[in-house]
Amino acid sequence: MLPSFETQRLLLRPRTMADFDACLAMDRDPDVTRYIRGPWADPEEHKRFLADRIQRQWPAGQGYWSIFAKETPTEFLGWVLLIPYDGVGPDIDIGWRLRRITWGKGYATEATLPVVAHAFDTVKLPRLVADIDVRNQPSMRVAEKIGMKRVGDGAFEDGDPFKAYVMTAADFAAKA
Ligand SMILES: CC(C)(COP(=O)(O)OP(=O)(O)OC[C@H]1O[C@@H](n2cnc3c(N)ncnc32)[C@H](O)[C@@H]1OP(=O)(O)O)[C@@H](O)C(=O)NCCC(=O)NCCS
Repeated sequence: MLPSFETQRLLLRPRTMADFDACLAMDRDPDVTRYIRGPWADPEEHKRFLADRIQRQWPAGQGYWSIFAKETPTEFLGWVLLIPYDGVGPDIDIGWRLRRITWGKGYATEATLPVVAHAFDTVKLPRLVADIDVRNQPSMRVAEKIGMKRVGDGAFEDGDPFKAYVMTAADFAAKA
């Protein structure tokens, strides 16, 4: 069972099927999925993909956390993930996706920090990775603010370029 987290303004708890509709609605905002590959254009495939991602047995300590503001604790705001890269690993991906109405408040960074601490302190992962579309400036800012380092360039399957970010346990220890 994944732990829950509390920050100054936010509550994070393991994502469940109770969040399914809210996740689907978030993904259907084209501004949210603009720089993310996925089955967004096919409603049935999208639902299957989401149900699988919510219900899958991820490795110990990994999965998705839904985000809520303490002020409005029943309103889903988005999620943070910690899962095997591309769903298979061996590297572990950290990711964030929030509803557009929440952007620009520092929520993404605030929500991601306890998951980073959990990844290194509790799960004892050696490193975290994130590949971010070069056009996704807000996401690259989150990566940098949580302490990830830009280590190289790559391309998604569709050919679009990404920046590869990594944070090692040593980076995390040095930051603490
Ligand atoms: C990526 C994404 C999560 C970033 O969200 P965001 O709200 O821009 O990110 P942050 O939480 O870091 O907050 C951003 C800004 O809030 C502002 N802010 C306002 N109040 C703040 C506060 N109390 N504390 C901190 N920042 C605050 C800051 O100016 C900050 O930007 P800056 O640090 O560059 O100045 C969001 O754009 C998103 O969900 N995109 C769609 C999904 C996506 O692309 N995910 C990533 C795929 S790789």
